[in-house]
Amino acid sequence: MAKKHKSKHARAVIGIDIGGTGIKGGIVDLDKGKLIGERYRIPTPQPAIPEAVAGVVAQIVAELSSRPDGPGPEVPVGVTFPAIIQHGVARSAANVDKSWVDTDVDALLTKALGREVQVMNDADAAGLAEARYGAGKGIDGTVLVITLGTGIGSALISQGRLVPNAELGHLEVDGVDAESRASASARERDGIGWEEYAQRLQRYFSHVEFLFSPDLFIVGGGISKRSEDFMPLLDLRTPMVTANLKNNAGIVGAALQAAVHFDLLD
Ligand code: BGC
Repeated sequence: MAKKHKSKHARAVIGIDIGGTGIKGGIVDLDKGKLIGERYRIPTPQPAIPEAVAGVVAQIVAELSSRPDGPGPEVPVGVTFPAIIQHGVARSAANVDKSWVDTDVDALLTKALGREVQVMNDADAAGLAEARYGAGKGIDGTVLVITLGTGIGSALISQGRLVPNAELGHLEVDGVDAESRASASARERDGIGWEEYAQRLQRYFSHVEFLFSPDLFIVGGGISKRSEDFMPLLDLRTPMVTANLKNNAGIVGAALQAAVHFDLLD
């Protein structure tokens, strides 16, 4: 339910990014789309089952809340999760523990934190942050944010609005799940060079381009640091740029979505 939260910290919201190896959090300044202070990271517990992960999220929120800039308990927390999240419930588990499927992540974390929570897909969060504060700022039309990491994440943004859970990493390309060949982890697993990897990306991006005719591709994920090794090798009609917010895009997007959902922004 949308509620009005009046607080002197209403424009500073905690964002948490749940990943396969680390759970990271930060206090986000929503005017700037930047973190206030350092981010805080704890390795993801193994096995990464719901209760254990919720415990770590609570630890991170407690640390951030104890800082002088920490938002009070009346301010909701935004959280990303690397799976389909439909109305707070996980509906897939491609690269996470299978016990998450059908878990009400929103309810689990609301209980663990004792405050309002807004949960969303990790790539959707990164995409939202890029569209508002980063490489997609001011772009009218369709922006596709594709994150190349353990899997392939995607965010579909049209006229600044997110269409959640696009899951374009699971398009079938050449008879296989696209992320099994074109993710950053597939490149490492197969020990291939940049040219061969660029050929896989070419197949992937030209298919996505054909389906959506986007106005801009934004490429995120750790591998975007090496964009000069593969981007010049791609031949697409859509302009392609790297994500601006780098490691913090998920944290910023999660905080932003929580603020929008709970009506904290003007
Ligand atoms: C999942 C997506 C997620 C992406 C990046 C994919 O395997 O299906 O939900 O956004 O990985 O983490």
